[in-house]
Formats: sequence, structure tokens, C-alpha cells
Amino acid sequence: MADGTIQVLIVDDVAETRHNIRKLLEFEADICVVGEAADGREALALAKELQPDCVLMDINMPGLDGISATERIYQVAPDCLPIVISVQGEQEYLRKAMLAGARDYLVKPFSGQELVNTIRQVYSLEQARRSLQKDAQANRSAQVIVVFSAKGGVGKTTIATNLAAGLSRQQREVILVDLDLQFGDVPLLLNLKLKRSMADWHHDGREAIEDYLIQHESGLRVFASPQTPEQGELITGEHVSQMITELKPLADFLVIDTPQFFHETTLQSLELADKILLVATPDLPNLKNVKCCLDVLSRLNMAGKVQIVANKVGANGIKVEQFSSYLQQPVWQRVPYDLKLATQAAIQGIPAVMLNPRASLSRSLARISREFVEPHPGSREAAVKVPLVRMLFARR
Ligand SMILES: Nc1ncnc2c1ncn2[C@@H]1O[C@H](COP(=O)(O)OP(=O)(O)O)[C@@H](O)[C@H]1O
Ligand SMILES: [Mg+2]
Repeated sequence: MADGTIQVLIVDDVAETRHNIRKLLEFEADICVVGEAADGREALALAKELQPDCVLMDINMPGLDGISATERIYQVAPDCLPIVISVQGEQEYLRKAMLAGARDYLVKPFSGQELVNTIRQVYSLEQARRSLQKDAQANRSAQVIVVFSAKGGVGKTTIATNLAAGLSRQQREVILVDLDLQFGDVPLLLNLKLKRSMADWHHDGREAIEDYLIQHESGLRVFASPQTPEQGELITGEHVSQMITELKPLADFLVIDTPQFFHETTLQSLELADKILLVATPDLPNLKNVKCCLDVLSRLNMAGKVQIVANKVGANGIKVEQFSSYLQQPVWQRVPYDLKLATQAAIQGIPAVMLNPRASLSRSLARISREFVEPHPGSREAAVKVPLVRMLFARR
């Protein structure tokens, strides 16, 4: 409705019918006929050029028929609303037309009033639908989950990619942000061709962040880290804050993968996180690091949103219960050690939850994503037992 009128394209192989329809619409101030086409092919070409709000489409036409043209019109004019017009006796065709995406149909001959009412109704229903969708998007604010650890190689990226893929499989809109600015490997683990990255977003003046996301076949989108460490150096905490603010309205979840140190950029993401998954392998050498990390997070007043995920459980470490008791902190989720599947998933660039959903590793990774969609009551309880951490650090 560029100039305040509903712009209509008439498609019918009979010139007289087109002429009559044009006459019926002539005196309507809110409707304007912008073009006429005599077959489906011409209709698609004109729709592409004129981008009308609505197309009145006959069914039986030589060459490309109206049903096939209706089916394809979304490709050339995504906002155009097709209304099928057809002679009586073509009920079966009308059904097919609706399946092809027609918004309504009119049986010829129809009166001027019927035609005008149908166009207005289809148009206003669509306007209402779009405005609802806009509101829903405007009100959307993703839950931010940061996956962090005190040590490299413990499985942060494995957990972040599987969590994102798992959420996406549950029909949630997910953006996976790779904040490992120097050695990010999320695209590698998802077998994604790097088209654009955070560095391009930064370089181009940071407009329309959506255009810098890479789509994965599971539906999730990836905001890839810069390709070189030098480019990574250019991203500051302020940029991280800006990207999170801009990405939040675009998804239900932002999953953020991080490097293993408290850099300014990581700290910014931790600050803006709703949940921090602290990944730890339950072994003695790691214990000191995890304790130290919890201490820092506590001093930053972030202890309340930390949940510990024990990874590689069963790989010659100590028992999770023992680990938890040394930490004086509950372990929220445990993920078993499965070198074969983890390696296979990494080599093929397919998250374990997609590669082999039935494996015990995949099931525990999938459980983590389910906890964010429909939390298990017991597990929430474990999650709020966080004051233990405060007790732990209050002594100091
Ligand atoms: N549960 C697991 N069992 C076996 N190997 C794992 C498991 N989780 C991760 N790995 C492997 O450990 C290595 C490090 O994992 P990665 O996710 O890259 O860690 P980080 O991101 O913390 O550095 C990878 O080779 C990965 O395949
Ligand atoms: Mg990593």
C-alpha cells in the first residue's frame, strides 16, 4: 500500500474479463489496479516488477496456469496476496488453489461489492497478522546462556553447539555466538562455510546484525568469531554488549561460546547472561581452577546464575559427587565421556545430538537443552541451591 491504496494486479486470459474487473474497481478510492496479465508467466513477471499488494488470479489460462502461478508468486513478490477468481464448476481447482497459497476465492460472475469486500478483507486480515507478528518480535527478548570454563579443552564448544542444536530441534529460534575471538571453532564443528563474521559486522559499521548470521541446516544461526586473532583483538566489551542487545530481539535463545579466560569481552557476556553454564571435567587438576573461577564469579555477584555442568564424566577423573563436595556446589548436569562419538561429531561437523541422538552422550546433551525449554522441578531446585557458593566465599 505504497500510496495509501491497495494495489491490485489482474490476471485473466480474457481481455474482456480484465476490463470488466478494472471497471468494477474503478471508483474505489482505496483500491488501485496497477497492471494486467494474460497468463501465469506474465503475471509472475509483472508481480516481480510491480510488487502489488494483491493479485486477482484466474485459474484456467494458456501456458502457466493460475494454480502454478499462485504457488510461485511468493518467490517473486513475497508480500502479494493471491485471490483466485474462477468460473463455477471448478471446485476441485479452487481447493488446489487454496493449497497453493490463495487467500480467498471468488466464483465468476461476481458483483463489484463481492470483489471489493473480498479484497479489503484479505488485505486487512493480513495487516492484522503482520502487526501481531511485529508485536511478538518487538516483545521478544532471548534468554542469554553463556557457556564458560576455567580451562580449555573441557567441552565448552561441544556443549554450546549441542545445546544450540538441541534448542533448535525443539522449535526455538536460536543464535549461537562464538565469542572465542581468537580461536573460535563453532563453524568448524557445525560444518558451516564462513560467509561473514563478527569482524565484517565490526568493519561495516555494524548495521543490521541479522545479515551477518550464518544459517545452519538445523535452523539455528551462528554469529561467527573473526577469522584471525588480529581481527579478534578489535572486538571490545562494548561491542559485545551491543551485539547481545541487537541479537536479543531476534531469537528465543542466545547461546554464547567463550574462551577459558576472563577477558573484557567474556566478562561483558557473563554480565549480560541469564545463565552461566560452567563446564568442568571432574578431575583434581581442574578443581583448583573451577574453585577459583567460582570465586571470581561470586565476587562479581554472578554466583546466582551459575550452573555447573560436569563433562567427560567417567574419563579417569574423580566421582562427580566427590567433585561436587570439594566444590561445595551442586553439579547441575553430567555429561558422560564418549571419545568415539565426540570425535566423530567433530570430524563430520555434526553435533552429537543430531549425529546419534540415542547415544548416552547425546541424550545427556539433549537433556541440557530440554531443561531450558521445560525445566524439570528437581533440577531447578538444584539450580537455586547457589547460596552454597556464597557460603563458600563468604568465609574469605
Ligand atoms: N563428553 C565428551 N566425551 C569425549 N570427548 C569430548 C566430550 N566433550 C568434548 N570432547 C572432546 O574434547 C575436546 C575439547 O572439546 P571442546 O568442546 O572443543 O572444548 P573447549 O571448547 O572447552 O575448548 C574435543 O576434541 C571434543 O571432541
Ligand atoms: Mg572452544
